[in-house]
Amino acid sequence: MMTDSGPVALITGAAKRIGAAMATRLHSEGYRVIIHYGQSESDAYALVERLNSARPDSATCLQANLCNSEEVKALSANAVNVWGQLNVLVNNASSFYPTPVGNISEDDWQSLVGSNVKGPLFLSQALAPALKQSKGCIVNMVDMHIERPLPKHSVYLLAKSGLASLTQSLAIDLAPDIRVNGIGPGAILWPEREMENEEKNTLLSSIPLGELGKPDDIAQTLSFLVSASYVTGQIIFVDGGRSLYTGASA
Ligand SMILES: NC(=O)c1ccc[n+]([C@@H]2O[C@H](COP(=O)([O-])OP(=O)(O)OC[C@H]3O[C@@H](n4cnc5c(N)ncnc54)[C@H](OP(=O)(O)O)[C@@H]3O)[C@@H](O)[C@H]2O)c1
Repeated sequence: MMTDSGPVALITGAAKRIGAAMATRLHSEGYRVIIHYGQSESDAYALVERLNSARPDSATCLQANLCNSEEVKALSANAVNVWGQLNVLVNNASSFYPTPVGNISEDDWQSLVGSNVKGPLFLSQALAPALKQSKGCIVNMVDMHIERPLPKHSVYLLAKSGLASLTQSLAIDLAPDIRVNGIGPGAILWPEREMENEEKNTLLSSIPLGELGKPDDIAQTLSFLVSASYVTGQIIFVDGGRSLYTGASA
């Protein structure tokens, strides 16, 4: 077991991008952080090294495929063992890609539902006793598109809609000891897959605030939610107003 003090947060899929920004933010606020990763081992270790050089023994990382139930069980046990407590779970890891109707496969179902809702459900369940003990909280990363479907993403969006529903159910079922909230990002970072400029421009023109969000916009919202002691069952859209966009002009 490591030493240090301060609350402990487990952030899934945190080796890079938004997850890394959230881990870095919580760490800067005094949290000890457990960086979960799937395949991005070198990014995870580099982030842990950076955080530990700012504050010794304040970061570590754990690997697991969240689609695999045994690995989720091991992740939850190992996460609690690191510092003997857990205060915050952020279900951030997600696979995201289009699934045009006609080509949807069982593998797509396993990958998209597994990472976006099944993994978060079983991780939350396994970690509930530790979170109950610390009067901690869960924050689920949803997506503003659950209210305004993105074409050709039915499987991803049914999984994120399930995660939004789970957020509300767990807020009831785990109260009063554990608060459960969600964040619904709009367009924050382009996906890692290639995107046409035309697709990017169409998307940008649908954001009332006129630009992509930044990972730190999400991290700032996480920071609010982990300390908002009377807020539970809420999903905050951080989307530059995109969920309001109708496409109509005056
Ligand atoms: N980016 C945006 O603009 C945007 C918009 C709407 C919603 N969101 C949501 O915000 C969150 C963060 O977004 P992001 O773009 O930073 O996420 P991302 O880069 O697409 O994914 C985050 C991490 O999830 C991990 N992951 C995926 N499948 C996994 C599995 N089966 N087991 C373990 N780990 C798995 C990957 O870790 P490894 O690399 O280690 O394998 C990946 O790096 C996600 O929940 C996303 O759906 C993002």
